Amino acid sequence: MSNYKFKVILVGESGVGKTCIIKQYIDNNFDSEEIPTIAGQEVFKEITIGKDTIKLTIWDTCGQENFRSINSIFMKKSNIVIFVYDITNKKSFNELKKYWYNEVKSYLGKEVVYAVAGNKSDLYEDQVISANEGKEFADSFNGIFKETTATDYEVISELFYLAAEECLKKKKKENEINDDNNGGYSDSNKNDSEGVNLNDGKKNNNRSWC
Ligand code: GTP
Repeated sequence: MSNYKFKVILVGESGVGKTCIIKQYIDNNFDSEEIPTIAGQEVFKEITIGKDTIKLTIWDTCGQENFRSINSIFMKKSNIVIFVYDITNKKSFNELKKYWYNEVKSYLGKEVVYAVAGNKSDLYEDQVISANEGKEFADSFNGIFKETTATDYEVISELFYLAAEECLKKKKKENEINDDNNGGYSDSNKNDSEGVNLNDGKKNNNRSWC
């Protein structure tokens, strides 16, 4: 069993439900009167995948145009990016493709797990972006796709689980390659603050999460 720590960031237009998704995941609660986020905020959640324990540090960002520029500060060292749009709002999807995707990619590149959440699926009667369109967008960069509703804990929980699982696979593969390159020796001095196995080679057993 190993411990990992992944940083997750949610981005997307104002009002798509980023704060509500996080709130549901952390507090198992849906608030229909969320006020706009005006700076990044972080929360924590620990999950188990197989025999591994994952600590997720989840960052909420602000979608409002005036505050967009500060989001790059919070993107730093992210392992998982969740792009969120509102299935009833075409602009929120178009802006994801036009602005958010390019912005995030320019900061984080390919070495990150990407997911797309088509949120507010409970409002399916007003849906203007189909699941196919959302999936097509996610497929274009090998991202995970899921329609979500912040009203349902199980759905939200699955979104984070799928992304964390993908990230875990990626990290294990990277660690294997690093170990192979080092002739089986794991470097205890490597930067283990984010997205790496904190118990690597039993050398880091005394490390805590933060
Ligand atoms: P910013 O902080 O401005 O970037 O917005 P945000 O993306 O964090 O949106 P927020 O979570 O504040 O939600 C905006 C509004 O949408 C609130 O009134 C929520 O109650 C509502 N909302 C969020 N998610 C859902 C959902 O899944 N279904 C429904 N019906 N409403 C939702």
